[in-house]
Amino acid sequence: MNSVTAAFLVWTLISPSSDGHVRGEAWPTHMACSGGGLEVFYQSCDPLQDFGFSIDQCSKEVKPYLNIKFGIILREDIRKLFLDIVLITKSSSVLNFSYPICEEDLPKFSFCGRRKGEQIYYAGPINNLGFDIPQGQYHVLLKLYNENRSTVACANATVICS
Ligand SMILES: *[C@@H]1O[C@H](CO)[C@@H](O)[C@H](O)[C@H]1NC(C)=O
Ligand SMILES: *[C@@H]1O[C@H](CO)[C@@H](O)[C@H](O)[C@H]1NC(C)=O
Ligand SMILES: *[C@@H]1O[C@H](CO)[C@@H](O)[C@H](O)[C@H]1NC(C)=O
Repeated sequence: MNSVTAAFLVWTLISPSSDGHVRGEAWPTHMACSGGGLEVFYQSCDPLQDFGFSIDQCSKEVKPYLNIKFGIILREDIRKLFLDIVLITKSSSVLNFSYPICEEDLPKFSFCGRRKGEQIYYAGPINNLGFDIPQGQYHVLLKLYNENRSTVACANATVICS
């Protein structure tokens, strides 16, 4: 584990609710990446916890293999895990996308099958189609949930592409 990874892990371990988070108060906004004409900010919309997320190389030309870091304390079992993405421009949703991350016969990631209460930390590639982000400002809602549709993580993000 290099020092950046270690620092990130420590941050994700200590930041959720350890500093007396008041219910109803918004979580701080984090920067996931900045550079290459792209800025990505996110904020947890799960009232119970914050989480850590970052993208290694920021670029408006999204590569098919994107390296990310993600750290969270699981509040549900994740034998199955799904991601819903809603892309919003000018207050109307333009794209809804649902993506299976963990399936029983097809666990794509090493953390699939982990249990409630466990800390997961993932640093590595995620597959996507590879695309160019058109200039503009976007709002993205992301929700991770398990087979019972119980929330595992929730975030709203702002993507600014110049
Ligand atoms: C998340 O949503 C809240 C409430 O709508 C908004 O105030 C905040 O700016 C958003 N954060 C990001 C990073 O988009
Ligand atoms: C989903 O709910 C069922 C019935 O309550 C329960 O047996 C099962 O363990 C839950 N699965 C997860 C992943 O929490
Ligand atoms: C996407 O999902 C949101 C919230 O679940 C819904 O309000 C909206 O109508 C959907 N939009 C499209 C284009 O399917």
